[in-house]
Amino acid sequence: MKSEDFAIDFPVETVEEGKVKVLVPKLEAFIKMPSEYAPSKAPVFYNPVMELNRDIAVLALQAYQKIMGHELSVCEPLAGCGVRGVRFATEVEGAKKVLINDINEKAVQLAKYNVQMNKLSRCITVKNEDANLLLAHYGAPYKRFDAIDIDPFGSPVPYLDSAIRALRNGGLLALTATDVAPLCGVHPRACIRRYGGKPLRTEYCHEVAVRLLAGCLATTAAKHDVGIRVVFTHSTDHYVRVYATIKYGAKKADESIKNMGYILHCFKCFHRETVKRIFALEWSGKCNECGSKIEVAGPLWLGTMFDKHFCEFVEKEAKYKPFKYGERIRRILALIRNEVDAPITYYILDKMSGRLALPVPPTRKVIEFLREEGFQACLTHFNSKGIRTDASAVTMKKILQRAKIASHGKF
Ligand SMILES: C[S@@+](CC[C@H](N)C(=O)[O-])C[C@H]1O[C@@H](n2cnc3c(N)ncnc32)[C@H](O)[C@@H]1O
Ligand SMILES: [Zn+2]
Repeated sequence: MKSEDFAIDFPVETVEEGKVKVLVPKLEAFIKMPSEYAPSKAPVFYNPVMELNRDIAVLALQAYQKIMGHELSVCEPLAGCGVRGVRFATEVEGAKKVLINDINEKAVQLAKYNVQMNKLSRCITVKNEDANLLLAHYGAPYKRFDAIDIDPFGSPVPYLDSAIRALRNGGLLALTATDVAPLCGVHPRACIRRYGGKPLRTEYCHEVAVRLLAGCLATTAAKHDVGIRVVFTHSTDHYVRVYATIKYGAKKADESIKNMGYILHCFKCFHRETVKRIFALEWSGKCNECGSKIEVAGPLWLGTMFDKHFCEFVEKEAKYKPFKYGERIRRILALIRNEVDAPITYYILDKMSGRLALPVPPTRKVIEFLREEGFQACLTHFNSKGIRTDASAVTMKKILQRAKIASHGKF
C-alpha cells in the first residue's frame, strides 16, 4: 500500500518507534525558523520527544493487562497520527481491541495508513469524531473500555467526565498534562479554573502538578460515584502523567475523596506540612516554624502516587524492552521504586544551600547523614537534586551545616 492511496498531501517520512514503523509528518518541512515548535506547525501532530511517554504507556498498559489477567479493549481518543494506538496493538500482549480517534481528518487518514501498514486492521478501529462525543457513545454498560489514554494538547480536564463514564469498573485511565506552566504556578488563575486547585511555585512544583491533576480526577470521578486509585505517575520533560484505576461505588468515591487536602509551604524557612481535609481548612496563615506568612496549594491529592505492585510490574516489563529510551526509563523506574512510600514533597539542595549561603553538598552525602540520624531519605525522579525525607526543614538545615563541616569546606 502506498501513501498516495490516502491522498496524503503533505511531506511525510517513516519512523521506527518501539516495534512499529509509522508514517509521520516530516517535521523539518514545516518550520521556517529553528526556534519554532515543529509538531504544532505540521498538519498532523507527531512529537518525537513524546516517544518516552509512549514507551512508558506501553509498559504501564502491559503491567495492567498482566495484573488483570484478561484481554483489553483500549481507547485513544486524541490519537494524532495513531502511533500510540498502533504501538498498544502491536506491543501489548492481550490488547485485543484498540480504538483510535482524532478530530482532524488528515490525522485520521495518516492513522488509517499506519494501521494498514502494520497489518492491524482486524484489531484497530479508526474514528474521526470529537473525543467527548466518541467517549459518550461508549459510556454505557457492555460498551465501555478497559483502558483509556488521554494525551491531548495541554490539559486533559475537558475529557475527564466522558472518559470516566466510558471506563469499565476497575479500568485504567492514563492522563497526560502538558500545561505545566499553570500546574506549576506560573499561571495560578488558569490552574484554579481548570483543576479546581491552587498551585504553588515551589521547588517541588512538579509533584504539586501531579497532585493537582490527580485531585481533579478524584473529585471529577466522585461526581459519578466513582473512586480512584493512583497507581503510577511520572513527571518528565515538559509534561506530567497520571495513571489511575477506577472503582464504581459511592463508598469508593468517599474513600478517594478522603485523600484530598492541602500542602502548606513557607517560602521563608522551607517548612511544609499537609492537611488532609477538603473543606473548612483551619489555617492561621502563619508558618508554625518561623511565623512568616504561609502559602497554600490545593485542594489536591495527598494519597499515594504509586502502587508498589503496579510499579514492580512496570519495572519488570521495562527490563526486556529494547526501547530507544530504555536506559533512561529504567533509571526513572528505579528512582520511582524508592519513592513509592516516601514522604510528600522533597527538598532541593541547591535551593536550600543557596539561601543559607552554604556550599551545595553531594546529594548522596545528605541522604547518608539523614539515614544515620534515623530519618527516611531517598532520591526522587521529579528532580535530580531532590531529596524526599521525613526530616523537617530545620533538621535539613542542620544536616547541610554538618555536611559543610564534614567536608572542611570543599566538595
Ligand atoms: C497531543 S496530540 C496527540 C498525540 C498522540 N496521542 C501521540 O501519542 O502521538 C493531540 C491530538 O488531539 C486532537 N484533538 C484536539 N481536539 C480534539 C477533540 N476535541 N477531539 C478529538 N481529537 C482532538 C488533535 O488533532 C491532535 O492530533
Ligand atoms: Zn517558616
